[in-house]
Amino acid sequence: MTPSDKHVCVFPGSFDPITLGHIDIIRRARRLYDGVIVVILRNESKQGLFPLAQRKQIALEALSDMPDVQVETFGGLLADFLGYTDTHIILRGLRTGIEFDAEHHNALLNRMLAPGTETVFLPASPDISHISSSAAKEITSLGGDASSLLPAASWEALKKAAQRQ
Ligand code: PNS
Repeated sequence: MTPSDKHVCVFPGSFDPITLGHIDIIRRARRLYDGVIVVILRNESKQGLFPLAQRKQIALEALSDMPDVQVETFGGLLADFLGYTDTHIILRGLRTGIEFDAEHHNALLNRMLAPGTETVFLPASPDISHISSSAAKEITSLGGDASSLLPAASWEALKKAAQRQ
């Protein structure tokens, strides 16, 4: 079976670092698709905290109970990653309706850049829809406890980063 025969989804994001919200989407995606590829990309509108390679290490540790989930980093366009991996389905989690407009715009751009691509949206589980990497970073950098938002690997990495500041 080649990747294009299989029903594989690509879950892109900054994952800076991966949160329990991301992990919930990944768990649910595994029930919907034959394979899930998490791809860690640069978001040009955000200043990253961790280098891509460290984000990958953190994500691999956090996803160690799901060894079937592939984790990659990519320095370019998501559309190019789809081309290299011969995949066609982008999965994005939606926390609120407010996020939909920007996500819809990105879905159209990705379809322009990689024709045949479909973007599928999964609503965040209601009990964890308040979680974001940005909130976890802000809380931790100001001395707060963000452990309920994060897998242990992300929480440990954020605490270390906060100590260095
Ligand atoms: O977790 P985020 O920050 O919401 O993820 C956004 C991300 C990384 C998926 C998006 O910024 C992205 O796709 N970046 C790669 C560059 C790219 O393809 N830009 C065009 C998007 S339309």
